[in-house]
Amino acid sequence: MEQRISFASDNISGVHPAVMAAIAQANAGTAPSYAEDAYSKKAAGLVAKLFGDKAIPFFVLTGTGANVLALKAMVSSYHAIVHSHIAHIHADETGAPEVFLGCKLRPVVTGENGKVTPELVKPLLKEKGNPHHNQPKVISIAQTTEWGTVYTPDEVRALAAFAHENDMYLHMDGARLANAAAGLGTPVKAFTTDAGVDVVSLGGTKNGIMIGEAVVFLNPVLAEHFPYIRKQGMQLYSKMRFVAAQFIAYLTNDVWLENARHANAMAKRLSEGIRNLPHLTVIRPTEANGVFVRLSPQHSHALQKEFDFHVIDETEAHHDVRLMLAFNTPAEHVDAFIAAASKLK
Ligand SMILES: Cc1ncc(COP(=O)(O)O)c(C=O)c1O
Repeated sequence: MEQRISFASDNISGVHPAVMAAIAQANAGTAPSYAEDAYSKKAAGLVAKLFGDKAIPFFVLTGTGANVLALKAMVSSYHAIVHSHIAHIHADETGAPEVFLGCKLRPVVTGENGKVTPELVKPLLKEKGNPHHNQPKVISIAQTTEWGTVYTPDEVRALAAFAHENDMYLHMDGARLANAAAGLGTPVKAFTTDAGVDVVSLGGTKNGIMIGEAVVFLNPVLAEHFPYIRKQGMQLYSKMRFVAAQFIAYLTNDVWLENARHANAMAKRLSEGIRNLPHLTVIRPTEANGVFVRLSPQHSHALQKEFDFHVIDETEAHHDVRLMLAFNTPAEHVDAFIAAASKLK
């Protein structure tokens, strides 16, 4: 089948060969169901190793499920979750958090870097203790952010300290946690457990896994009811060994990190290749595997004839487009885009 070059997302790519082989290997014989099998126990141990002794991981199927169920462990219906106006939980989950949590989502308008800060959350705290308002209970951030930027360990630490001082929790949507670790060049523990995050997800699907994410409790008290939350939330997959086997392959020999390093390197290559071209402006720092570009609608349409990518904001004057790089994006695809962009008139 003829394939167009696509930068539409990092989940348009396939499955890493080691992960695919692990699925086939797990297909031999039988195994206990519902995450009671040896694969699930081993994979949970490997995930926990990344985050430290107290981490309690649970596997789920989708990133939306990971977010909604993690948040379910932290809130009641009279609570509010504070997050960026570009947050996936707010903009791209079709109201799943509102339906399953029954509480309020409170977006704060983040600046150019897409990051939530204590200063942005502070004004909402005046609602604390007032029975007429949902009570702010969780700050939810995405690492990397939806604009491809990465919170530093200090930025996360400041948010966690602020949350805890105000009887709140810090949730981290880690659909692209591997890309953040690769971008920062630090172990994930440094910007999660050690920085005070309460619950984080470790994404797999966007970085070489076929199906699977992990919800990781770093605050063990919050994990208490999660077995029931996961089942009620329809994410306790009966043949969980196939999810777990993927994570074992993913976390062995640093496959997860190498995948993310490649995607990030391709993003740098693209960003640097188009940075000095006359008709394109890179509008966000390229800190992980996303490149965000402003160009005219005409130029955007011309490039769309050859390449797939999402226009995330448009006016009559410009298109802001998102180019995502994946664990297996070939350098030739990046170079083809740079060449096409440099021919724009
Ligand atoms: C930041 C972020 N979080 C969560 C998700 C959800 O993943 P899924 O599509 O598996 O539900 C995505 C997917 O695009 C995402 O970009």
